[in-house]
Amino acid sequence: MDEGAWKKTLLALVLVFSMKTEASISNHMNDFIRAVQWLEDRVQGSDLVTVLRALRQAAALDDVFLQHFLASPKSDSSEMVVSASRYLREVLHHQVTEDSREGGVVLTSDGTTVALRPVVLGLEAGLSTGNVSHVHQLTLAGDLGMAIEGEVDLLGADGCWDDLDSPRVFTLTDDSPALTTAAINGGMDGFILGLEASNRRPLKLSSLLKSYYCHQLDADGLDAAPLLISRRRRENFRTLAPPAVVVREAVKAVELQRKLGGHPELGLKQKRLLHFLMERGVKELVVKFVDCPPMISRCMWGARPYKGTPTNLTLPLPYLYIHHTFSPSKPCLSFEQCSADMRSIQRYHQDERGWADIGYSFLAGSDGYIYEGRGWFWRGAHTRLHNSVGYGVAFIGNYTDVLPTQNAMGLVRYKLASCATGSRRLVDNFILQGHRQVVDTDCPGDALFNEIKSWEHFGK
Ligand SMILES: *[C@@H]1O[C@H](CO)[C@@H](O)[C@H](O)[C@H]1NC(C)=O
Ligand SMILES: *[C@@H]1O[C@H](CO)[C@@H](O)[C@H](O)[C@H]1NC(C)=O
Ligand SMILES: *[C@@H]1O[C@H](CO)[C@@H](O)[C@H](O)[C@H]1NC(C)=O
Repeated sequence: MDEGAWKKTLLALVLVFSMKTEASISNHMNDFIRAVQWLEDRVQGSDLVTVLRALRQAAALDDVFLQHFLASPKSDSSEMVVSASRYLREVLHHQVTEDSREGGVVLTSDGTTVALRPVVLGLEAGLSTGNVSHVHQLTLAGDLGMAIEGEVDLLGADGCWDDLDSPRVFTLTDDSPALTTAAINGGMDGFILGLEASNRRPLKLSSLLKSYYCHQLDADGLDAAPLLISRRRRENFRTLAPPAVVVREAVKAVELQRKLGGHPELGLKQKRLLHFLMERGVKELVVKFVDCPPMISRCMWGARPYKGTPTNLTLPLPYLYIHHTFSPSKPCLSFEQCSADMRSIQRYHQDERGWADIGYSFLAGSDGYIYEGRGWFWRGAHTRLHNSVGYGVAFIGNYTDVLPTQNAMGLVRYKLASCATGSRRLVDNFILQGHRQVVDTDCPGDALFNEIKSWEHFGK
């Protein structure tokens, strides 16, 4: 086949793919990975960097800032292939529109939403230069710098998908300008994966994304899981990216952006101010995204609405009550299973018990996530006569004879607790109790109750 004919064949394939796209391809990470695979299968001799450049060209991700770090994608046939795909262009172009829709994000199998742009950029930087500073500036540190410099003062606006099985539209629930949760998740992933790729060259982009985003946990949950998976993004980011370095790289990214945009260099005083603002931003980031546990919000597990009007809690509260669900008795190990458990518990509480909503404030899955029940602000129905003075946190499972995973216990014992005191939702010297200490019940099970006796804050 001569080159012209080959290009025509490819173009034909592209059109077929684009048509299929409209009908069946969603904003789920699995579909994005399928698209990457499709590309890898069809483009001859495509090594990782070529595939990444092709993706970048598809999304028209090429400005002076990116050119400073990454080679401009040339138009050869492989890029022609990609340019023809509307899907790739949309899914890689991160933006928040007027109507609060966030584009360029995908839902992953673990229930979190990520922006793909920093993932692709971080990987390319890691592979092509291996320079950690470049990886920082093209992922979270750079995005954070730009957001703060743009006077975006709120971090972590989150949202809801239109459909969890076939997600297409992601709408933010908070309409203030923000570096969104999806951008932060993607920024952390891009940094972690870029750093990894610079140390150990992965063979295929699709395999790397699969092993990172689609890892299935076994009965030990996260306790026995590999290190490099999306569920561990917060702990990995904490280990690999010290806050002082993130501040430094964010400042560098802003200075470079100014220089490339033809702005005059900052004076000493302005430099100090910039540094101060970045330090404050990174501190907020660390509190919300590194110290606090990752949480699956109500819309993400498919909660029904609260029946009636919730009663607000008066914060900070003095107590944290520990429960187990008893039934479901099996620990849940995936977003799908934990979400199904959440829905069945809520159904039981609303329909059988006649309560307004799921009773607990929060629940701990064994999949690495805390699930939002009534949340931080609404009074729960978990610990009779004590619902106004404490949060009720339940471990999903039956912990009469066995313990939850170390990871699940750590999420509640350290992360949720410090997150709650840090944000003044629990008092600093709050008291942690088992359900059975205040109500006549076996809850939270003998094994778990014995365990929590050694936890900080445990009290009578
Ligand atoms: C990384 O790149 C920066 C310039 O962007 C350079 O100053 C630094 O020396 C590089 N680091 C390494 C380890 O090559
Ligand atoms: C409860 O809190 C919400 C905000 O979290 C507020 O809008 C509402 O007015 C409060 N309701 C009462 C009864 O205080
Ligand atoms: C919970 O575990 C205990 C001890 O293993 C067992 O006796 C009980 O039947 C279990 N309950 C449920 C609902 O699975």
